[in-house]
Amino acid sequence: MTNLTRRQFGKTLAGTAAAAALATSFSRIALAQVPSAKSLQFPTGFLWGCATASYQIEGAANEDGREPSIWDTFSHTPGRTFQGETGDVADDSYHLYKEDVKLLKNLGVTGYRFSVSWSRIFPKGTGKLNEKGLSYYDRVVDELLKNNIAPYITLFHWDLPEALPGGWQSRATSHAFADYAAYVSRRFSDRVSHFFTTNEFVCFTDLGYKSGKFAPGLKLPDAQVNQIRHHAILGHGLAVQAIRATAKSGTQIGLAENATVYVPVIETREHIEAARRATREGNAAFLTAVLEGKYTDAYLERAGANAPKVEAGDMKAIGSPLDFVGLNVYTPEYVRASASPVGYSVERRQASYPRMASDWIYIGPEVIYWAIRNVSDIWKPRALYITENGCSADDVVTADGRIEDTDRVMYLRNHLTHLHRAASEGYPIKGYFLWSLLDNYEWADGYSKRFGVHYVDFKTQKRTPKLSAEWYREVISQNAVE
Ligand code: FCB
Repeated sequence: MTNLTRRQFGKTLAGTAAAAALATSFSRIALAQVPSAKSLQFPTGFLWGCATASYQIEGAANEDGREPSIWDTFSHTPGRTFQGETGDVADDSYHLYKEDVKLLKNLGVTGYRFSVSWSRIFPKGTGKLNEKGLSYYDRVVDELLKNNIAPYITLFHWDLPEALPGGWQSRATSHAFADYAAYVSRRFSDRVSHFFTTNEFVCFTDLGYKSGKFAPGLKLPDAQVNQIRHHAILGHGLAVQAIRATAKSGTQIGLAENATVYVPVIETREHIEAARRATREGNAAFLTAVLEGKYTDAYLERAGANAPKVEAGDMKAIGSPLDFVGLNVYTPEYVRASASPVGYSVERRQASYPRMASDWIYIGPEVIYWAIRNVSDIWKPRALYITENGCSADDVVTADGRIEDTDRVMYLRNHLTHLHRAASEGYPIKGYFLWSLLDNYEWADGYSKRFGVHYVDFKTQKRTPKLSAEWYREVISQNAVE
């Protein structure tokens, strides 16, 4: 009985003829049957993890045969990143990975999501393999397994090999990605059961090639951007096919996507329906195309003459069935039903809307519930993971060396409460990866934004658990949020 969720409990009770008669003694029964009045218990076997990405933590940019990615080039170009900071050293996890696995172990996580640097494995993107790069990931995987932590590998977290001509502008990159993905998954699928193809399409397409805020820093017109987006989702689809063809059978394949999350402005039927419509249309270029194997009519209409050129077989590959969907969830968009042709409108945020240290992290913890619910209701994935969730905070080290990040704990506690709601309503949410294990290179923001539950002194590489690490360890050990 202790595993009965509040909702199931309510249903069971309502379903019995004796329910009415029992009403007077309800509180006594509830106390006996609901786990603990103060903790929100997660299902047995729920996976708790942390996430990182290669360019953000590894450093060792020029070691053991690794060649530049577009992020090396971008971060070394004056004016592109905060104070010109680069990922040359980052957390030096290339050398300190054993220490980082110890941090994971101390938290008690059962999974670790990390990414592989493509240009460590194939320095030129295709062709000649670099065994030394591969053996680094061998060491990481083995160290994790030794500590009973399941490795979850992301194959592409933005650090595209610089040597690939045109990057994602070229269709050849989609094929190169599939080849690389097949190679890595074949090599590791004896020890790794879950692979994510890509991380956050919009960040390496639109931010890279439209606004130019991320590598490679281009500002291209819409027609080209739409084609780049198409190559990205095609790369994902071809990779799914290639992994299925080569990796050990039973290998679980999905992606990690930061779909825009539309939260109904009020939880009523019409606004819930509006959020659902917005989820499909607002993500038409990416997640919708991947999960439906087609672009929506409205997307193609909006794009008009700038619509991507699609070749025979592309949409089938893009729509390749997935074993799970990973969602990176940070911030909500509030949506209401409207009489507009699309049937919804997105609310403007007031200036006073609260945020965390990064200006893009607006706080709305119900976002995690709606991310899961919208995606599940529309596309019915077999399994879902929260592949990233967390926040930056202006951490301060106290005189006695502590980091009391109560604001991060507030952010996490509230999100996990809403995650619990999704789990207890029966959505197929299997696990949660906190971003991030440790402070790291936050892309164009350099080292100015700290997301870790471990504080990193970037001069000495000393790692110190923050209050949030202590808090997360407690959540994991109880499998519950208080
Ligand atoms: C996500 C990225 C991740 C990290 C967090 C804060 O968009 O996937 O690498 O930068 O944001």
